[in-house]
Amino acid sequence: MCGIVGYIGKKRNAIDTLIDGLKRLEYRGYDSAGFAVINNNKIKTIKETGKVVGLQRKLQEEWSEYKDTSINLGIAHTRWATHGEPNHDNCHPHCDNNEKFAIVHNGIIENYQALKTQLELKGCKFNSETDSEVIVHLISECFEGDLAQAVAATVKKLEGTFGIAAIALEDSNSMVVARSGSPIAIGIGNDETIVASDIAALVAYTKRVIFLDDDDLAVITADGVDIRTLNNVPVSRETTHIDWDTTDAEKGGYEHFMMKEIYEQPTAISNSIRGRLDFKLETAVLNGLNFTPIEMAQINRIIIAACGTSMHAGMVGEYYFEDLASIPTEVEQAAEFRYRNPIIEKNSLVLAISQSGETADTLAAVKEAQNKGAIVAGLCNVVGSTIARETGRGVYLHAGPEIGVASTKAFTCQTTVLLMLALKLGRNRRLSGQDGMKLIKEINNISTLVETVLEQADNIAQIAKKYAKMNNFFFIGRGYLFPAALEGALKLKEISYVHAEGYHAAELKHGPIALLEESVPVLALANDIAGKDKIIGNMQECRARKSPVIATATIGDKSIEEHSDDIIWIPECSEFVAPIVTVVALQLFSYYFAYERGCDIDQPRNLAKSVTVE
Ligand code: AGP
Ligand code: GLU
Repeated sequence: MCGIVGYIGKKRNAIDTLIDGLKRLEYRGYDSAGFAVINNNKIKTIKETGKVVGLQRKLQEEWSEYKDTSINLGIAHTRWATHGEPNHDNCHPHCDNNEKFAIVHNGIIENYQALKTQLELKGCKFNSETDSEVIVHLISECFEGDLAQAVAATVKKLEGTFGIAAIALEDSNSMVVARSGSPIAIGIGNDETIVASDIAALVAYTKRVIFLDDDDLAVITADGVDIRTLNNVPVSRETTHIDWDTTDAEKGGYEHFMMKEIYEQPTAISNSIRGRLDFKLETAVLNGLNFTPIEMAQINRIIIAACGTSMHAGMVGEYYFEDLASIPTEVEQAAEFRYRNPIIEKNSLVLAISQSGETADTLAAVKEAQNKGAIVAGLCNVVGSTIARETGRGVYLHAGPEIGVASTKAFTCQTTVLLMLALKLGRNRRLSGQDGMKLIKEINNISTLVETVLEQADNIAQIAKKYAKMNNFFFIGRGYLFPAALEGALKLKEISYVHAEGYHAAELKHGPIALLEESVPVLALANDIAGKDKIIGNMQECRARKSPVIATATIGDKSIEEHSDDIIWIPECSEFVAPIVTVVALQLFSYYFAYERGCDIDQPRNLAKSVTVE
């Protein structure tokens, strides 16, 4: 998920190039960094938690004379923890027990636990809690004198996603890389080759880049690259000329992190789902929750504590848990949870949802719930974050780092994970295998539906532009689209500073309707799911007060046209999935709207990414 850099060549000091590459990948967000080089017939590894400058400091302290040595080969990594806290031992590169091989890995190895157990039985000693470490021990086990052969044999045993770079002490003239689902780009220079998971780390050195395909393996030397399949059949991949300069590269070509993260959603959602759907038992596998079927069946109430966007995801979760698992659920603004003195019964499950895992109010709710004897689980994105640690059980989103202050991919991954949790709880109760399977298929299709929404970006941009001078908005929705309306309004006010309010469509008549007039557009979520007929009535009420109506509607649903001024088309999907895909359209609307108004999208005024004060 995070960053890989590799260097081979005599033109410059490998360490300086690796560190420079890591710095260029900093924009991706990470929690620790490290590198390994071959020097003096040893693999020398330096790692540090925190930022790359910290790694540089450590390098100066431990090995200031490195510049006097010629170092021609090395691999480096910025880690964004998925398995194991961001600490020194978990930081990449990882070495085998004899320190003859070193690897860096991006992605998630789903079957690492089984592989780890097998390796441990053979006497292998693990130094980290990562999923990645199995790779280097497998390479060591499979090695018969040729690193490429050992990597190929290893990769065949792995399930999950990976981009890998590996080096062997025996061969300081080559490096081996492989990929499956996680990018690897190879920059071809003159007498040097630079490898990276993101071209941002390469473009300062060369514009000639080869992108590996899934299941490719490449042997990299200073003179170039030899690409083959895992079965050693040579393949050729074309060389692309990259015309980015280094500034373009910083956000992966996107102007803002928010846009980059909006577009990352199909991948992020796939990562949240990966390995968690059990097609045989027609349920979800969420091992981090650590519930036995009996414990799960005893849960008689769910209380969700969260703030902001995470709370909106929780509101969608409330619908899921009640509809699919018949468990009474309520959502508490996390700050209120502590001061309102909520009733916790013996088998109440308190679910704390937090992208950062550091939100002070949500953390306080966790402590209060634990104090009251609740079963407490966390749903966090950042591995090893305080809430994840304090709760001790839960589900990680695996959405990758979210840097934009306006939360985007965290919401869609949180809701996807909540849907999987409802599936699991539902199957533990009354949800039939057939209905479970139907849901599994829908969950599996979310990423594709999100892609369809992203394809509408130009249309959404046009609409946003048309209304960009308006200063007051209402977002309305019903049922599953009610929380989506709240989230849409939150996104718009956060990054464009216009006044936007999210309401249940039925609530409009109970007061807010007094504000409607020509200059107050209403964004009505009128997808073709339960509640559509009623919301059409609400849209008419708005238009009767001269408010322009922008609607979201299901692709092909002509009936909405006569009730709205503009339409954002959403692909057909069930009501469970509708809030997820519809929010993506609302994120795009807010982005283009704020862009048109010249707002600072990634650093909106007065906001912080992580709110660690009450
Ligand atoms: C969303 O765009 C926000 N900036 C904010 O509401 C955020 O969701 C909230 O502060 C909660 O953060 P958390 O998920 O990291 O706990
Ligand atoms: N899953 C690996 C880990 O937790 C790699 C994470 C990454 O892509 O940075 O160490």
